[in-house]
Amino acid sequence: MNPELRDLYQDVILSHSKRPHNFGKLEDATQTSHGYNPLCGDNIRVFVKRVGDRLESVTFEGTGCAISTASASIMTDMMRGLTVAEAETLVEEFKSLVTAGTVADSFEDSDASALAGVHEYPVRIKCATLAWNAIAAAIHGKNETTTE
Ligand code: FES
Repeated sequence: MNPELRDLYQDVILSHSKRPHNFGKLEDATQTSHGYNPLCGDNIRVFVKRVGDRLESVTFEGTGCAISTASASIMTDMMRGLTVAEAETLVEEFKSLVTAGTVADSFEDSDASALAGVHEYPVRIKCATLAWNAIAAAIHGKNETTTE
């Protein structure tokens, strides 16, 4: 990756981690799930308001490193308005992004592509996937803690 692109990606991650989007408890959530990283103790709770088959609102709260907070912020932006099936596909595509650096069409021109470099740092993959595994559990109605 060229240095300019790396700097740009760092700016995107820092911006989301300093001012996370959709941060806070969703009072009328229909589903919620908790992501916990046992390696560092960081945790994130994801809230989903599902109307029919669609995710009408998605928020999160909790504490985490810059990567986990930025990833959660980006996740909440991207999930709003998706159907459950679309959300499930996006979670799988995101995992390929951060484990193999594979940028699916959904992530072209999206802030999520800033996290593609995470695959070069295996210990940070769990940081990036924390909120995404939590929303996968939430949309399946599992109100539990996921440590994946
Ligand atoms: Fe804890 Fe990243 S160091 S989630």
